Order: sequence, then structure tokens, then C-alpha cells
Amino acid sequence: LIEAVNAREILDSRGNPTVEVEVLLDDGIVQRAAVPSGASTGAFEAYELRDGDKSRYNGKGVLKAVAAVVDELGPAIEGVEASEQRIIDEILIETDGTDNKSRTGANAILGVSLAVAKAAADSADLPLFRYLGGPNAHLLPVPLFNVINGGEHADNGIDFQEFFLAPIGADTYGESLRWGTEVYHVLKGELKAAGFATGLGDEGGFAPDLPSNREGLDFLIRAIEKAGFTPGTDIAVGLDVAATEFYKDGVYTVEGKAWSVDELVDYFADLVANFPIVTIEDALAEDDWDGWKKLTDAIGSKVQLVGDDLFVTNPTRLQQGIDRGVANSLLVKVNQIGTLSETLDAIALATRSGYTSMLSHRSGETEDTTIADLAVAVNAGQIKTGAPARSERVAKYNQLLRIEEDLGDAAVFAGRSAFPRFKG
Ligand code: PGA
Ligand code: ZN
Repeated sequence: LIEAVNAREILDSRGNPTVEVEVLLDDGIVQRAAVPSGASTGAFEAYELRDGDKSRYNGKGVLKAVAAVVDELGPAIEGVEASEQRIIDEILIETDGTDNKSRTGANAILGVSLAVAKAAADSADLPLFRYLGGPNAHLLPVPLFNVINGGEHADNGIDFQEFFLAPIGADTYGESLRWGTEVYHVLKGELKAAGFATGLGDEGGFAPDLPSNREGLDFLIRAIEKAGFTPGTDIAVGLDVAATEFYKDGVYTVEGKAWSVDELVDYFADLVANFPIVTIEDALAEDDWDGWKKLTDAIGSKVQLVGDDLFVTNPTRLQQGIDRGVANSLLVKVNQIGTLSETLDAIALATRSGYTSMLSHRSGETEDTTIADLAVAVNAGQIKTGAPARSERVAKYNQLLRIEEDLGDAAVFAGRSAFPRFKG
């Protein structure tokens, strides 16, 4: 039974305050969870409550959310069995009482929801992935390493936000981690040799001031080859375009020029034809449904098209996409929707609709590793949690090493099978 719930304000990886929640059970178990925060957030995400008090942390404090946990959300679930996750999440949603969790804050609600799950797992003496996923949780995800950062995550001129390495040809997760990391180091040398800066962006990737997005892909391919791997067979590549950020009044502005949807669709089709691309996320803006439909019809059979800002881990938004035949993959960010149960609902809906799911961190992260366990629990087969550098990113990749070891012979690395549409 849940005996007490506490919360505090801690810092995230960008030096901004965030919520940490601690749950105490009557058997003496204590577990905590910390909440991440985005920079290129979707307009339809659940509400992140910040104090707005300019005298503290430039208005970004989360003392109101902390108070909501201590004064309202915690007391509302005291005495409830910790394993009753769906009932607890329902209580949290009802206590908040708004559609987008704006009164108590999705950051407050998510912290409680995740801490409850961790405490329940601990109380059952099970690793989190096993508690959440049951006996069939066994699939280690392909890590998508974001090794070049642009857009809102870096101060360079690159429009696209993320450039991924996807080591699909590895035999194990541990090997995929090594491959991606080796290429990451080679990439640094290549950028340096070409005269570019090798400082890091928010997600641990390099943030060079490249003249074009295509150049980013060229650098990835060169680094893969130079590290001794075969592009496409061993290691594929991918993009998070985060197009909502450069879409305004019906116009996409990329590399200093205005693009129509048709031009962009042709551009992406050309990239897919010329690079071993397994996944493209948010290639178009969050409310450009017609553009998304065109894009999906044009290249959706050849490449994974992921909806992040488009779906915001929201089963209702995802259902709209499914009904319209838009995209073919769901990006899963726990804080976009705000409870574990709703996150699992979104993933289940994706799976039964033939959409893949990619677990995801946020650009503002903490040492919390819940998403690593969640990826294995639902056998998602894919996770993106930044570059293989910076501890808030590496913490998740390291947790997956522990899970792989824990599973032993039962562990299966998703590899190429995680990307059923990839033909390259
Ligand atoms: P965010 O970026 O956490 O800043 O929203 C991650 C993403 O767009 O996938
Ligand atoms: Zn994204």
C-alpha cells in the first residue's frame, strides 16, 4: 500500500528545475522518479507546470508542481495498492480535473505515476522491465544515437534537429552500443579534420555549423565507413527533422529558402533513395495533416515515418493519424501524455494498427532510466536517448546493458527487424 508521497525540485541536464517524486510503501520500499522536459515541444502535449516567478530560476521553478504532489496528488493515492497502476493513474487524472493536466501539471502527475510503478516493481522484487512487461519482455531495442544536433538543440545553423546512427546489423544490444560509440568517436575526428567545431548539443551529439542538412548525412556515412562498418547493412542512419520548428503560416523554411510541401516530399524521397535511411521523424509540422498524408503516400512504404509533435503520445491524436493513413510509427515520450497507463495505451494502439513505436527521452533529461525498462517491457525494438555521451543519455544506454545481462539467453536484439519498411 502507498503510505506517503514526497516531491522535490531538482535540476535537469540543461540546468533547469524539474520534479522528482518519491513514493514510500507500507513494506518500507522507497522509489523515486524524475521528470524530463522538452525544448521543441509539441503544441498538443500535456501541460508542463512552471512557476513563472521571475525571481527564481528565471520563472522556470516547479514549486507549484511539487506542492501539487505533496498536497493533492499524493494524499489522493495514499492507501491504494501500488500495483493498481491504472486505478492510480485514473485518480491522478481525476484529481487534476483538466483535459491537458494543466492544473496540477503533467510534470507532477508523471513523477507520481512513474515512482508508483518503480515502487510496485521493487515491492514485487522484480526488475522494472519485468514488472511492466511480464514474462514475454525480452526484446532489446536498436539504439538510435543522435550524433549531430541542430535545430532547437544547438546554436548552429542546421535546420534538422537530429541525425541518427542506427546499428541494425549488430548481434546484441551490447555490440550495437559499441558500434555506435566507435562511429561517434570517428565522427568527431572527421568533423575536426574538416575544420568544424566539435562542441556538444543538448543531447550529446556534435553541433557543427554545417552548410546543409545533406552534409550531415554525408558525414555520418563517411564516419560509418571509416570506422570499418558498412552503411545500411551494419549501421543505417535516420533523421528527426522537427519540422514544426521551421513551419510558419503554411511555409517551411529550410536552408534559407521557402519550401512547399510537394518540394519537401520530393526532397525526402530523394534522401531516402540516396542514403540508407531507416527512419524520419516529424518530417512535416504538427498540424499539417494534408502534407503528412502526401508524404506517407509517397515514401511510407519504404521508410519509417515517426510522429512526435504530430501524435504527442496521445491515443486520440494517434487514432486520427491511423484513420487518415498518416505516418507509420509513434514516438513515445512519457511526459507528453503524463501517465504510464496512457503511455501504454498509446503503444498498444500503435502496435495493433501496424505502427512501430520508438521510446524516447527529452532534450532536457535526468539520471532517471525508466524509459530503458519501458522499451524492453513493451518489446518496442527501438529507443532514442541521445548520443553515447553525457551521463543523462548514457544512463539509459547503460541500463539496457544491465537488462540484457539480466535476460541472459532470453535476450533478443531487435536489429533490422525493428524497421520492417526498410529495404535498403
Ligand atoms: P525535445 O526534442 O525533447 O526538445 O522535444 C526531442 C524530439 O523532438 O524528439
Ligand atoms: Zn522529435
